[in-house]
Formats: sequence, C-alpha cells, structure tokens
Amino acid sequence: MRRIILDTDIGTDVDDALALALAIQSKKDIELRAVTTVHGNVNLRAKIAKKMLKIAGLENVPVAPGIAQPLMRDRPILGWAGHEGSGILTPEDDGLEISKFHAVDLIISEVMSMKGEITLVAIGPLTNLAASIIREPDIVKNVKEIIIMGGVTRLFNGLNLPYREHNILCDPEAAKIVFSSGAPITMVPLDVTLKVYIDRKDLGEISAVKSPLANLIVSMVEEYLRIVKRDYTWLHDPLALSVSIDPSLVKTVDMKILVETKGEYTTGQTIALPARPEDNPVKVCVDVDVAGFKDFFMTRICSKNT
Ligand code: RIB
Ligand code: CA
Repeated sequence: MRRIILDTDIGTDVDDALALALAIQSKKDIELRAVTTVHGNVNLRAKIAKKMLKIAGLENVPVAPGIAQPLMRDRPILGWAGHEGSGILTPEDDGLEISKFHAVDLIISEVMSMKGEITLVAIGPLTNLAASIIREPDIVKNVKEIIIMGGVTRLFNGLNLPYREHNILCDPEAAKIVFSSGAPITMVPLDVTLKVYIDRKDLGEISAVKSPLANLIVSMVEEYLRIVKRDYTWLHDPLALSVSIDPSLVKTVDMKILVETKGEYTTGQTIALPARPEDNPVKVCVDVDVAGFKDFFMTRICSKNT
C-alpha cells in the first residue's frame, strides 16, 4: 500500500484528471493522502479535483491549493487554455470544501509526520515541491520517493520529441531545485509518455461502465479532444501514477539530471548525463511496456470494484 500525495495542474490537459481517476480506482494499492494543486488558478484546479473525489465517494481526501506563479515570479503562467472547469463545475460546486492548509504546508506536514512513507507524485510544474524543500529541507531524506512526470532525455530518437517538456518549462528553477535536492526521484519523461495514449475506442469502453466517475471522465476527455482537435490524447500523468503502483511497467536507467535555467534557447531543457558513483542518481524511465500499461490503465478505470 503506497501513501501518495498527487501534486497536479489538473484542469488544462485532461491527463491529470485521468491520473486522479486512476488513483481513485486503485484503492487497493494506494492510500491517497492528499491532492495539491499548482500553476495558474490553483483554487479552480482544486475544485475540479474535489469534485472528482466527491463523485467517487472520497470527499475526505484533502485538496489543498498551492502556488500559482513560478518560483522566481518572473516567468509567465504557461498553458492556461481557458476551458478549465467548463462543463465540469456548476454553480452548486461553489460550496465544495477545499482544504484550509496550503499545499506546501500539507506536503511538509504529511512527509514529516510519516517519515519514509509518503510518495509525492508530481504531474505539474514543480513549484510546490521546490517550495516545500526550501521551507523544510529534511523532507528530502524523509520522503519515500518523488515520481515526476516531466522532462525529455533523448532527442531525435524517431519519436520526433520536442526538446523541452511543459512541466519543466513552466518553472525551470523549481525543477532545478527538486532534481538537485538529493531526494530519491523517478523521472517519467516525454520519451516514454508519448508512447501511451487513449482514443475514441477506449472512451467507448469507459462509457459502457456508466458509473458517475466514468461518465465524468468521458465528458472531460471528449471536451478536451474537441478543443485539441484530435481523436486521441496522451496518458503522460497516468503513467507516472502507475509507476508508483507497478514499477515493472517501465524500464529505468540511473542518470544525473541537470535543468537548464539560463539558456538563450534551451531554458527548461533537461540534460541527462551518466550517473557517477558520487551522484545521487535519478531513476529515468527509458521505455514502457505499452500494452501492459494500457491494460493496467483500462482495467482499473473500467472496474466497478476498486
Ligand atoms: O508534458 C506533459 C505534461 O504537461 C503533463 O503533465 C500534462 O498534464 C501537461 O501539464
Ligand atoms: Ca499535468
């Protein structure tokens, strides 16, 4: 049983909502201790997460809004698309109860009160995690693991990878603090997450479930596909969450990860180097069992017995 805090920019790309749904549907493996939100309108993001939890009968899981702006406060909020919350939140949801704790306080309190027990799964920009480390450096040695969806480690490998990834690009300084902290980190980069996606056929299977959570997921994904004008969307964030439950879904290599913060063209790039013995290496996912993960994801999302 893994005790997890999910730190998320839920509401923009629909994959955060799918990761939360996967956590909700994995009660046998995961104790979801809290959801924390980051980047942009963190209160709106928190309401979306709370609504999903409430629909699934998990209203007791605290949802704490975190830091809206990148750490240095001199970078823009990237990727706020404008559709966040539409079709999901209604006027009745104004009363959804968001935690009175700040995300950073909640993360610190959980990690320090359950030493060695808490896994932080970060599926948005790393601002909340960096601020937590600045405020309480001891969380680095007391966290069980930090699993990060972010970065790109290989270029020109046939996947036509972009050279920078959104979560790192949004707040490179925060990413630098987290990756250089010495905490035990598993990195789930675009190199592998771009291999996994769901399409309209999968959505058909999820709609057949007809539970309130399944219905909500289907409408969220359909709305997102309409906005991005595609018939599929990637499962970046669900893959990161899945790694916390079944690490055998991915192959990892130990590497040292540097984050570029000052380049004329390269700010936000993650540089992967061979790990030397004195480095505290990051476990970097370099491959994924695509069919195994897809089966893992769909079986859980479509299950009535979680
Ligand atoms: O690059 C993929 C990441 O950016 C995912 O976390 C997705 O949700 C978006 O925020
Ligand atoms: Ca995300």
